[in-house]
Amino acid sequence: MVGVDSERRRELNIKFSENGLIVGADAFRKIADCSLDPEDIILKAKSSKIWFIDEQFLEEYVVVSKEDKKACKEIQESAKEAKAEEQVVEVSRPTDSAPAKKIESRLVINEKSDITGKSTCSGDIQDFFDYFNARYASTRSVLQERMEYKSAIPIDDVLKAGSGTKARIICMVAGKRTSDKGYKFLDVEDPTGELTIFISGENQLLSQIFERVLLDEVIGVKGTLRNTLFIASDVTQPDLPLTRQPKYADEEVYAAFLSDIHVGSYLFMEKEFQRFVDWVNGKGNKREISGNLKYIFIAGDLVDGVGIYPTQESELTIPDVYKQYDFLSMLLEQIPSHIEVVLSMGNHDAVRNAEPQPKLPKEIGGRLFELPNVHVTGNPIRLSAHDVDVLMYHGTSLDMIIGNLSGCSYSRPETAMIEYLKRRHLIPMYGVEGIAPEKADYLTIRDVPDIFHCGHVHTNGYANYRGVHVINSGTWQSKTKYQEQLGHVPTPARVPVMNLHNHDINMLYFGD
Ligand SMILES: [Fe+2]
Repeated sequence: MVGVDSERRRELNIKFSENGLIVGADAFRKIADCSLDPEDIILKAKSSKIWFIDEQFLEEYVVVSKEDKKACKEIQESAKEAKAEEQVVEVSRPTDSAPAKKIESRLVINEKSDITGKSTCSGDIQDFFDYFNARYASTRSVLQERMEYKSAIPIDDVLKAGSGTKARIICMVAGKRTSDKGYKFLDVEDPTGELTIFISGENQLLSQIFERVLLDEVIGVKGTLRNTLFIASDVTQPDLPLTRQPKYADEEVYAAFLSDIHVGSYLFMEKEFQRFVDWVNGKGNKREISGNLKYIFIAGDLVDGVGIYPTQESELTIPDVYKQYDFLSMLLEQIPSHIEVVLSMGNHDAVRNAEPQPKLPKEIGGRLFELPNVHVTGNPIRLSAHDVDVLMYHGTSLDMIIGNLSGCSYSRPETAMIEYLKRRHLIPMYGVEGIAPEKADYLTIRDVPDIFHCGHVHTNGYANYRGVHVINSGTWQSKTKYQEQLGHVPTPARVPVMNLHNHDINMLYFGD
């Protein structure tokens, strides 16, 4: 933010929060930019008996000198110039004739896919043992849907049959190494035993696959046992079937995909989010879409949270997590009740960090749970909307994929999301991101979805991979210092909206 240091933000935060006041992100920027007197604002808010300070309140109640107004305008104008872009959605008079009001909701949230209330893990050794067995078994069953791997045999049987045995095995990768002479080896295991796989450097295709194999992923290997080495002639990932018939809604309905709202952050784009809410209410162009909007899916990081990283305190306008969710409720309660809103969790939300994540407790989510059309779920979550299957996952492990696989980048998150689909797992590499060792593996992509929706990286992305729409829905937070240091370029306030009847996707922009 131009001209305002973190110490000043921290001071403002403390002052407002000590007085029980919540300040909207835009109002907060104005107070900081215009050097408005917080004591004066607090006094006026208290005498007016309000708890939420927005820009309108500042306009009406706070006297700003002409000089301050001019300086403030200059600062805000220069910030705007930096992000000038074509505006897709314009604000205009609302319409009250949304056809979607007459369309019956057909939202089915797959409770089986939600860890909420079912967690059994205590983090002891037995839990990890059970989890790895469940993880192996669930991915093996996916691989065994392929004709060639139906007859895969356990490692122990290969070893007992002895040298010269030709076989297919399904195994988990425990180690990966290349010798000084360039020979490639994979150390693998299944519940019956361990084996070392040799991959010839002369086989270009296998060498390429070797480079992209991640530790802990489950693969199929065809080969021949030669003494203690299993010489690979084929390595296969579970992947998606080459062809499948996607499911379509039988009528014209739209779904909007959002994530990473980060309410409470100093950089939350409140005005732009409100513009989206206004558009949903029929104000603006593209009414053929807003009028038929039936579903809104939000893939986590609903709020910025508190204590997520060391210097966060100075980056918040709402330093209380309860109030962050309160403010989110205030925004979401403006969404018409005929539109179903599904909220799942992310690494900034007030639930455990290890995945799968249960849903937000009612004690923290408060008013969110009172909104009849808002459904709070765990992460990941499977659901279907008008018969179209959706897999929604926040995407915390995208950092791991992008960091370990060439060709995957923060600017093209869909490339990393495709790697999940190839491995049919949402955290294919254990140990880097936190996994809660549950008895069942909630992270295997057992059934193929029509839409795979993630967030986390704050950059929009789209691809169609073997018939699955791969969507990353960006963010509502402008560029953080951390992203600036890493050179990441977020794409805030852009909403992919899909017509579930024909799967056409529109990208709508709600920025200035
Ligand atoms: Fe985020």
